[in-house]
Amino acid sequence: MTATGLLDEIDGVGRDRGRGGYSRHAFDAAEGELRTWFAERAQRLGLAVETDRNANIWAWWGTPGPDAVVTGSHLDSVPGGGAFDGPLGVVSALDAVEIMQCKGFRPVKPFAVVVFAEEEGGRFGVPCLGSRLLTGAIDADRARSLKDPDGVTLAEAAAKAGHDPERFGADPESLARIGQFIELHVEQGRGLIDLGSPVAVGSTIIAHGRWRFAFSGQGNHAGATLIGDRHDPMLPAAEVVAAARRLARATGDGRATIGRLVPNPGGTNAIASTVELWLDARIPGDDRTRTLVAELSGLAKEAADAEGCLVEIAEESYSDTVTFDPALRDRLSGWLGGVPELPTGAGHDAGILAAHVPTGMLYVRNPTGISHAPEEFAEDEDVDLGAKGLAKVLEHLST
Ligand code: GLV
Ligand code: MN
Ligand code: MN
Repeated sequence: MTATGLLDEIDGVGRDRGRGGYSRHAFDAAEGELRTWFAERAQRLGLAVETDRNANIWAWWGTPGPDAVVTGSHLDSVPGGGAFDGPLGVVSALDAVEIMQCKGFRPVKPFAVVVFAEEEGGRFGVPCLGSRLLTGAIDADRARSLKDPDGVTLAEAAAKAGHDPERFGADPESLARIGQFIELHVEQGRGLIDLGSPVAVGSTIIAHGRWRFAFSGQGNHAGATLIGDRHDPMLPAAEVVAAARRLARATGDGRATIGRLVPNPGGTNAIASTVELWLDARIPGDDRTRTLVAELSGLAKEAADAEGCLVEIAEESYSDTVTFDPALRDRLSGWLGGVPELPTGAGHDAGILAAHVPTGMLYVRNPTGISHAPEEFAEDEDVDLGAKGLAKVLEHLST
């Protein structure tokens, strides 16, 4: 089945009626349904499906590794996300296998399609969790104790979904099987619109990370508490929201976002006792992101002091600049007739794997230029071109 047909098959899974778009999160019902769907689809192509220690799914064409050509992406989404971020790479991988099989091609090298778990960090906060665990980039105890917004730990959710969280952690055997990794992904900005090209090869991912700011003050009555008597944590939180924009703008090319802010108890007629917010900051260059966060943290402490509040700040994840393997990039671009190279501000499992194995990315044009929102899109013709291009590069790599 074509990539577009496969996307149609999962169109109804995990729709979010409240937010719009899709909410498919690690170990929830929608993600479980997608895991089953993927396994069935891969088995129909004759692939042997297994789940590794970290809940990543592998579908092997022939005997597993070493030096395998591996392609794939993820099936989880951000809250209220689009249909393409993640699934496009998975369905294109399945389509590419079918294209190669229909030609009578058989890979000389071991070959696998992989689905990484919790790429967005949409439930447990840390992005690329499956690939971070596999490569040892996150401590297994820390990962197991990550909590979702309802206080459920990763270990509890994984166990409920039938995985063994005690086995989570660095998996050198699985890593050693990967010779090269190629991830196809919908483009998440305007890059390919501006370049006038349906497909590009990834060049770099900018440094990025997530920080939690937890403000605490005194919960109180909205009508009975005079302004001068308040210790309202929403005030320093608001200062952080405004200052993040100011500081990012001043860098020229930085991005800083507060997309999640949680007041507790969250009553219209109550001063909050605590406010938590999460900063997502990304600036090209290795030190600049943390420099911005240090400056913002100073402002957060001053604003908290001024309101008689406290603030705790914690780094939840950080990734340095990724430069994809230049030789592999040249080969990918050449095989695809000289398609352009494109840097990105979006993180990917490919970025985590790039520290360990030669890794490349292909992007497919997104005519809305919008991502992490329901308006994310790709035209059928571009999806088709992407899958065919992926088949071409995988055939070259696995010969
Ligand atoms: C994933 O798309 C991210 O960059 O947050
Ligand atoms: Mn994403
Ligand atoms: Mn993605």
